[in-house]
Amino acid sequence: MDYFDGKRLYITGGSSGIGLAAALLLASSGAHVAIFARNLEKMEAALNRIEAARVSRGQEFYSLSMDVSDHTDVSTKIKRAVGEFGIPDILIHCAGIADAGYFEDTSYEAFDNVIRTNLYGTRNVAASMLPYMKEKGGHIVIVSALAGLLGVFGWSSYSASKFAQVGFSECLRPDLARYNIAISVFCPGEVQTPLSDHLLGISPPESKALAKMSSKIMKALSPEKAAEILLEGVEKKKFLILAGNMSKISYFAYRNLPGLSRKILDMTVMRLGR
Ligand SMILES: NC(=O)c1ccc[n+]([C@@H]2O[C@H](COP(=O)([O-])OP(=O)(O)OC[C@H]3O[C@@H](n4cnc5c(N)ncnc54)[C@H](OP(=O)(O)O)[C@@H]3O)[C@@H](O)[C@H]2O)c1
Repeated sequence: MDYFDGKRLYITGGSSGIGLAAALLLASSGAHVAIFARNLEKMEAALNRIEAARVSRGQEFYSLSMDVSDHTDVSTKIKRAVGEFGIPDILIHCAGIADAGYFEDTSYEAFDNVIRTNLYGTRNVAASMLPYMKEKGGHIVIVSALAGLLGVFGWSSYSASKFAQVGFSECLRPDLARYNIAISVFCPGEVQTPLSDHLLGISPPESKALAKMSSKIMKALSPEKAAEILLEGVEKKKFLILAGNMSKISYFAYRNLPGLSRKILDMTVMRLGR
C-alpha cells in the first residue's frame, strides 16, 4: 500500500480490533501512526506491536490516552498530539462501543453511554481536529457499521448511533470540501473483534438467531481483512466504503426494496420467535 508511505495518520480506537489491524497494516506500509484509546496498558501493548511492524527507521509512532466521549479531554489531547506528533494527513475515527437488548430493558444511562461515545465521540474528534486539518487539507474517515445503514433487531442504541455517524458524515462531506478535507464512512458487517463478541453475547435471542442465520451466508470478516478493505477505500477516496458482497447486497436491498426487506425481517423474527 504505497499510497500510505510517509503519510501521518491518527487512529482513535487504535489499540484493538479494526483500528489496531489498520495501524499494523499502515506501519508495514511506511506510515507514521498515532493511536488513541482509554486503557493505557492495552495501548502500550498495541503500540509495541505497531512499532515492530515498521519498515523504516524514520517512521514515527505515538500514543495518547483519550476518552472520545469527553469533549474537554478530546480538545486538550488533540492539541497536545498535534504539538508532539504533527497534523495528520488522515484521521481514522474507529473508537466505539456497543450495547444490545430489548429496548424496554435499555436504561437511559446505557443508551446515553453509547450515544455519547459513538456519536458525540465522532463529533468531538472531528471538531477538535478541524482547526488543524483545515490548514493543509486531509481525509477524515469515520468507522460506522452496516448497522448504520439498516436497523438491527435489539441494537437500538448501537444502530441509532451508527446511523447518526452516517448522517454526520453525509453533512461533513460537502461542508469540509472547501478546506480540501475528504470524508469517508466505513460500514462493515460483522468483524471478529472483542466488540462483536460482546455485542452478540448480550443480544436478545432473536438477534442471536438472525446473526446465526446471516453468518451462514455472510462470514464475519477478520480485523485484518476489514482493515485492508477500509484502507483500499481510503486510497480511492470513496465516500461510502462497504465491506464484503453480502453487505453490499443487504444495503442495496434495504435501500431499493425497503418494504420487502422489512417484511422478510418481520417474518423471520416471527418464525424464530415461535
Ligand atoms: N466488530 C464488528 O463487528 C464491527 C462491525 C461494524 C463496525 N464496527 C465498528 O468498528 C469500530 C471499532 O470496533 P472494534 O470491533 O474494532 O472494537 P474493539 O476491538 O472493541 O475496539 C474498540 C476500540 O475503541 C476504543 N474505545 C472505546 N471507547 C472509547 C472511548 N470512549 N474513548 C477512546 N477510545 C475508546 C477501545 O479502547 P479503550 O477501551 O481502551 O478505550 C478500542 O481501542 C467501532 O466503531 C465499531 O462500532 C465494528
